[in-house]
Amino acid sequence: MTRTRVAVLFGGQSTEHAISCVSAGSVLAALDRERYDVVAIGITPQGRWVLAPDDPSQLTISGRELPSVKDGPAVALPGDPTVGLVPLEDGAALLGAVDVVFPVLHGPYGEDGTVQGLLEMAGVPYVGSGVLASAAAMDKAVAKVLLREEGLAVAPSVQVRSGEPVDREAVLALGLPVFVKPARGGSSIGITRVTDLAGLDAALEVAFASDPKVLVEAAVVGREVECGVLETADGPRASLPAEVRVVGDYDFYDFEAKYLDAATELTVPAELPDGVTEALQTAAVRAYRALGCEGLARVDFFVGDDGALTVNEVNTMPGFTSTSMFPRMWAASGVAYPELVDALVQAALRRRPGLLR
Ligand SMILES: Nc1ncnc2c1ncn2[C@@H]1O[C@H](COP(=O)(O)OP(=O)(O)O)[C@@H](O)[C@H]1O
Ligand SMILES: [Mg+2]
Repeated sequence: MTRTRVAVLFGGQSTEHAISCVSAGSVLAALDRERYDVVAIGITPQGRWVLAPDDPSQLTISGRELPSVKDGPAVALPGDPTVGLVPLEDGAALLGAVDVVFPVLHGPYGEDGTVQGLLEMAGVPYVGSGVLASAAAMDKAVAKVLLREEGLAVAPSVQVRSGEPVDREAVLALGLPVFVKPARGGSSIGITRVTDLAGLDAALEVAFASDPKVLVEAAVVGREVECGVLETADGPRASLPAEVRVVGDYDFYDFEAKYLDAATELTVPAELPDGVTEALQTAAVRAYRALGCEGLARVDFFVGDDGALTVNEVNTMPGFTSTSMFPRMWAASGVAYPELVDALVQAALRRRPGLLR
């Protein structure tokens, strides 16, 4: 039996480098070595592609130390479908063709269509959404347009570009508080909850430090509930939803709250009034389709007291450690972590790159 050759791509240039490493560690540990030949490829924070040790134990958080991709034998994937992976220096032999790439990358240069474009050019099937859906989901301003067009509720917002005047009247009309966020951010980096308009300019500066395109968004009152969508041979399927609650001194689900375990409580599955679970699942699949997602997505909602749903955002490569929300929601829905990884690789292998996927 010939094994399928899977390249696991992780790390990357975004601020979510470390989280990507941890996610990749879980994926490497879960891939069935009887069926898959695995190549681990790390992308350093500088963007250098290197052969990485295929060793999940090096990709965990130990104490307060976050994992990262260390320098190693350089490799490249040229945008030439006849070539495959190329060693750029000694020690990186034994490369060549791979059957499928699993880009376990979060944020810019990974989840935003850029690496997907490279993989399309290289003619290699890959896990997850293509160029357009990845880019559209990454850009919260663009995603809103597509979601609204689909008839899903999203928070009203005003777009602000670095160096251009702010439409203060439009911002005032949003009421207070507002959330100021980079259009293409992640992990809550650059986000400020503004309760007094005197703080608006400072919040904009914080957001501009990661993106010249920023959204000022009306605050939505509601519980934060997430739902996983997974591509199956019969089409996209939604998981049971899960709720995130921030406990302690955090105003919202910010970076610290996300990665300091004690600050968040996850309830899987979420305890919701009758009918809300089904409504969330239907809305999650609609959001997935509206953006043209493939493979997987985590759709994040606010659920109002009256059960009204507002889509906050769609993540095309959600946190993927074995204890992350997405895998936990699937575990609660009957799909254990190794099965989930397998389903994603199999879904990727069912299509070809290009338009005739
Ligand atoms: N419009 C909003 N109303 C209420 N809370 C919000 C709003 N926007 C963001 N938040 C809070 O900030 C967190 C991070 O915002 P989000 O848009 O999901 O950015 P990221 O892509 O960085 O996760 C959310 O999980 C939520 O707690
Ligand atoms: Mg979020």
